[in-house]
Amino acid sequence: MEFAMQSRPPLDPLNMPRHVACIPDGNGRWSQLRNGSRIGGHSQGARVIHDLIMSASDLGIEWFTVFAFSAENWQRPEIEVRFIASTIERAIYRWLDDCSRSNIRIRWIGRADTRIPRALRRAIDYATSTTKNNTGMTLTVAYNYSGRNEIVDAIRKMIEDGVDAADLDSDLVSRYLYAPDMPDPDLVIRTSGESRISNFLLWQLAYSELVFTPALWPDFTVDHLLDAIREYQRRDRKFGAVDDGIEKLDTQLH
Ligand code: IPE
Ligand code: IPE
Ligand code: MG
Repeated sequence: MEFAMQSRPPLDPLNMPRHVACIPDGNGRWSQLRNGSRIGGHSQGARVIHDLIMSASDLGIEWFTVFAFSAENWQRPEIEVRFIASTIERAIYRWLDDCSRSNIRIRWIGRADTRIPRALRRAIDYATSTTKNNTGMTLTVAYNYSGRNEIVDAIRKMIEDGVDAADLDSDLVSRYLYAPDMPDPDLVIRTSGESRISNFLLWQLAYSELVFTPALWPDFTVDHLLDAIREYQRRDRKFGAVDDGIEKLDTQLH
């Protein structure tokens, strides 16, 4: 669903999403519109992520997850794949000071892979270990991430651990995911007008609220984030149950 941009009521502090996840799409198109090449948009995209991390942390959001590179993105031209990796690597080092000051913990989810450039791996490991005792927002960077791979990897580990089929339930599967302590996203934002999930957090998105916006990621601002949260706060989350209003009406009718 599209944002309602007309009215801008204040955010309801009692109804903030605990976990916001982003699919930052549209870097290539943004860049192509400017200089005919796809790759420059990724640097601007990383700058946008920095601003959003800081605002999300200031807003008291506990978990913020960014889909930085999918397992399917390896199919892109090598030059773009390398550019994205070095952009993320440099961005992580640039974010570190601010993250440390704001008590933000940085983590990575994805599948280990020899194709991940060593310098990026080092940056991720360094950021993870430097910020591991921080107790504020958790920033999770999904790189070489695929929701289906994550489920496959969880099943593989369960088989290796000799999990008994009789013990299998969804709580157990959740404990075998890449980040077992990460709560499911409450709000997922995808930019660039595409209304799809593209293999992001497939297990965890079961009851997430999805907000799609036409803005290309490099044009996405903190105001867009606030609009997405407002849109989230207008939603009626029911998780398969009936909401209060309907319950009351039901009681009156019987
Ligand atoms: C998203 O922007 C960034 C990554 C997938 C890494 P794109 O690069 O997909 O931008 P478009 O969709 O081609 O415009
Ligand atoms: C999704 O964007 C992945 C990331 C943002 C990292 P894509 O641009 O790869 O998705 P599709 O190909 O449009 O579905
Ligand atoms: Mg895209």
